[in-house]
Amino acid sequence: MSLRNVIITLIAAGTAIGLIMFGDLYGGREEQTVHSQGNVKYLIGVSHPNLNGPWQIQMNKEIKKEISHYKDTRVIFTDAVQNDAQQVRDIHSLMNYGIDLLIVSVDNANTLTPVISEVYKKIPVIVLGRGVKGYDYTLYIGFDNQLNGKMAAKEAISLLGNKRGKIIQVEGNKDSLQAEERTKGFEETIKRESSHTIIRTINGNWMRDKAEDELKLLLKSGMAPDLIYAQNDAMALGAYRALQDFKIKGVRIIGSDGLNEENGGLRLVKKGTIDATYITPTGGIKAVQYAMDILHKVPGLPKKIILRDHKVTKNNVDTYLRSFNNDVTSSSKNKHKRIKLGFAQVGSESEWRLANTDSIVSAAKKSGIDLLLRNADYSQKKQIDIIRKFIKQHVDVIAFSPKTEEGWEGILKEAKEAGIPVILSDREVDVEDQTLWTSFLGSDFVEEGRRAGKWLSSHFHSAKPVHIIELEGTVNSAPAVDRKQGFNEIIKQNPNFSLLHSYAGDFTMNKGKKLMEKALAEYGKEINVVYAHNDDMALGAIEAIEEYGLKPGQDIVIISIDATKKAFNSLSVGKMNFTVECSPLLGPQLMKAVKDLENGIEIPQRIITSEETFDQKQAKKMLYQRAY
Ligand code: AHR
Repeated sequence: MSLRNVIITLIAAGTAIGLIMFGDLYGGREEQTVHSQGNVKYLIGVSHPNLNGPWQIQMNKEIKKEISHYKDTRVIFTDAVQNDAQQVRDIHSLMNYGIDLLIVSVDNANTLTPVISEVYKKIPVIVLGRGVKGYDYTLYIGFDNQLNGKMAAKEAISLLGNKRGKIIQVEGNKDSLQAEERTKGFEETIKRESSHTIIRTINGNWMRDKAEDELKLLLKSGMAPDLIYAQNDAMALGAYRALQDFKIKGVRIIGSDGLNEENGGLRLVKKGTIDATYITPTGGIKAVQYAMDILHKVPGLPKKIILRDHKVTKNNVDTYLRSFNNDVTSSSKNKHKRIKLGFAQVGSESEWRLANTDSIVSAAKKSGIDLLLRNADYSQKKQIDIIRKFIKQHVDVIAFSPKTEEGWEGILKEAKEAGIPVILSDREVDVEDQTLWTSFLGSDFVEEGRRAGKWLSSHFHSAKPVHIIELEGTVNSAPAVDRKQGFNEIIKQNPNFSLLHSYAGDFTMNKGKKLMEKALAEYGKEINVVYAHNDDMALGAIEAIEEYGLKPGQDIVIISIDATKKAFNSLSVGKMNFTVECSPLLGPQLMKAVKDLENGIEIPQRIITSEETFDQKQAKKMLYQRAY
């Protein structure tokens, strides 16, 4: 019998909730398995870096609770007790037990990333709460740590008022990405938006005692802060204790985690021990739900789920405490009502957009959602008018693909005042107040640009100069801004690459052709590469190059983004070289989010789609399967 079956049998033979000890193997550490009896199909491994901290414990509780709804699944938990080498061994052991999927949370991204990449080659991996480097995983669930640090900085600025305040920052584990990102968000915002000074940053390793000890040393040396920003509530409590010890009053304290338990952030705010905290969801419940979707091979699952965090101060703590006690997050508001969704599509500029519209229409039909679909014909003014009309019609949810990033504050405020949630589909907006929209669903455009750049770097090895023409999408639109940024990030690392010119386009084939004619007139045979921000513009460029008498794909390398069927055709016949996928099939995820919203379930702040890249060989192979 395989080890996997031995383990499953052991669990199945146990009680409704089983517990297996592997003390011999791990010198007394525990590995727990949870589940009820029945036919076992799936074995999930959960690897924690440290089950000491309250936030990680909460994550574990959520996983245990949620998994109990799935009778055919068993779970094994491991706890590396804050030892990275141990976590590597834990993951190997879990693999030896024959797990079907790994859920992993890491402290040290440097050590754990290579191991997780290896596991990902064999089974699906969900990285939870604490990130790894790169994209070698099936799904990441967590929140935006940089935004968390930025929000804490804004709160610090408002707490300190006009005086030139002195701040001590207490960081979490120094090897963890989440500490690094929170620090970045905090420091950048303090520097940019205030005259306060961060007089010292200390390492509290996420632990209350360590934060308390380190702070005492500073206070003893005479340091007198006006505010302490601790990257979690446990360390914020440690800071409070240190201040108490020195009988220092009036220092403001900000934490993060926002748990509702003894010494959790919510209670600390309520008691006035700290001034503010941020509820940062652990994602435990979502991880199990997505794990089951992955194991059941549900198509179209996202690559990244970014959960929303919430600021809690004395002004709103009672609302949060009440809501936790009533468990509103899982209550159902409108189970039997048909949902009315207003969707303001930006236009019909590209093959991608047509596929996107089709996906939304068919998913709405399948989900039983009443869809009011209007097309703004690529005019921002028209798009705003459509949204205003939806508000008047009292739709339940509004979704739209904003043409550009700017100019949305007014209409989003109108929707918020009317109590209608707004989902940004495909493109993001640039507004200061992040509560004006509920969720973003779409691609990581920066990463798409990087992927195009990386392929180019791997394609041109010699030391010869490479001259690039960039055909940009709509000026100030999220995909154009981000794809440019990602691509530049990569090509600037190679001194042989030079950008001859960037032409501003609008994602249409027509414009792509016109811009390429212009480029050829100006630079002719000097051009080695065309990087187009979408396939339609690349296809237009191909026509222009052929008419000019050169061979696209050979004389000039063509790379673009979207991966539509028409691009696959061009790749297959050698006229294009590489395309980066940007999935337009957002309908099913959008309808899921709309339904969750109407059922009172908090939806993620960002849902990022899973995407691939295609060269000529891959495109040829997949041409007939391509859906759009
Ligand atoms: O916003 C997504 C972009 O918009 C697609 O890449 C492009 O083809 C479309 O017009």
